[in-house]
Amino acid sequence: MRIDIMTLFPETVSAVLHESIIGRAAKKGIVEINCVQIRDFTDNRQKQVDDYPYGGGWGCVMMAQPLKACLDSILSDASQLRTRVIYMSPQGKTFDQNTARRLENDYDRLVLVCGHYEGIDERFIEECVDEEISIGDFVLTGGEIAAMAVADSVCRLVPGVLSDEQCYIGESHWEGLLEYPQYTRPEVWEGREVPEILLQGDHAKIEKWRRKKQLERTISKRPDLFSKFTPETKEDADLLREIEKDKKRIKLTMPLSYRPAVTGDIPDILKITDDARESLKRFGVDQWQGPYPERYVFEADIDRKECFIILHGEETAGFFTLSVNEEEDYRNITDGKWSNDLPYCVLHRSAVSAKYRGTGISAFMMKCVKQQCALLNRQVIRVDTHRKNKAMLKLLRDSGFSYRGNLIISSEEGHDPARQAFDIVLK
Ligand SMILES: C[S@@+](CC[C@H](N)C(=O)[O-])C[C@H]1O[C@@H](n2cnc3c(N)ncnc32)[C@H](O)[C@@H]1O
Repeated sequence: MRIDIMTLFPETVSAVLHESIIGRAAKKGIVEINCVQIRDFTDNRQKQVDDYPYGGGWGCVMMAQPLKACLDSILSDASQLRTRVIYMSPQGKTFDQNTARRLENDYDRLVLVCGHYEGIDERFIEECVDEEISIGDFVLTGGEIAAMAVADSVCRLVPGVLSDEQCYIGESHWEGLLEYPQYTRPEVWEGREVPEILLQGDHAKIEKWRRKKQLERTISKRPDLFSKFTPETKEDADLLREIEKDKKRIKLTMPLSYRPAVTGDIPDILKITDDARESLKRFGVDQWQGPYPERYVFEADIDRKECFIILHGEETAGFFTLSVNEEEDYRNITDGKWSNDLPYCVLHRSAVSAKYRGTGISAFMMKCVKQQCALLNRQVIRVDTHRKNKAMLKLLRDSGFSYRGNLIISSEEGHDPARQAFDIVLK
């Protein structure tokens, strides 16, 4: 692919396009980018390229003569090539990935004409231009930025410019969808984790997750693009059905509140505990996998007025137990230490009903935990969780807790007793 750019600023355009990936491809001779000074083709001594518009009006118009002479010079050695002369213009068809693919596929040589001032003499467009391309519904001072965008996006499709064609297949706009989200190291940044599925090495699952994300984000970010998309595979159709189902998940329409739990709440609390037990099992977390926490544990929590339930309207959506009693297992923290030795509250048992997962109830629950701690005149909350309990780890980090070290807990006999310790000092 050879691209000639007719411009009043050849050095600027050339400097940009001879950098980085396209620059390296040009060095290897995979693409050729040639920036030509229009001013060199004027037939007047002042090298003037523009003049006042007939009929009056603001600004100047680029004259047809230097443009035509410049184009003739460029095309003088192009007779054998499939050539396209394109005027960069706010009046052109809006550029997109399909146009980039068409230009790369159908032509060996593109001549990109950059206008300036008020534009160029209409007769040059009629006489010499095959196509007008705009990079969007706005007006630039010159065509250079538009030409660089077109040259860059066409060149990266030329075989050999990118290391692998997979680099652009599947990218945003390749087949009418946006790309899935991308992550790189570290695994946790500012408390935000890379999605678990990307760390497990199961490529089939990763592919499915990525495709679902492509569909989801096209639906939410670019409904105009998605309206033109038709699923052609059973996999896409299934994923779209799944996305529809996700959308029907419960929405929080009622006020959220919390109150101390009473004995009558125990059936709800046990049901939510069973949901959580199932979910932890599914994710391979050896926490709550025995009988603990049993009914009597919650009865005792309620007796001590330490158990609270979260309500969505009248419905129990979750629970937590916050205690002011010192936790013996917390005395022996290893690989770190607690933030301070102040009296603390312990967040013991907490869970959100399966029905309410992903609705923001957990974040609300953490606010209630902090509020309750303040009401108890304590400034510090300590908590532990299993290292594989990603949901809880994320919730703790998102709620401002810091990892403090490791613990061994005694309450779950026969199961993995190792826990990670977190605390937060309330302002
Ligand atoms: C100020 S503009 C001229 C606009 C022109 N008077 C009009 O209203 O259509 C000067 C030059 O910038 C370039 N240009 C401006 N906006 C552009 C866009 N959205 N896409 C491509 N080129 C653009 C064209 O080459 C144009 O000749």
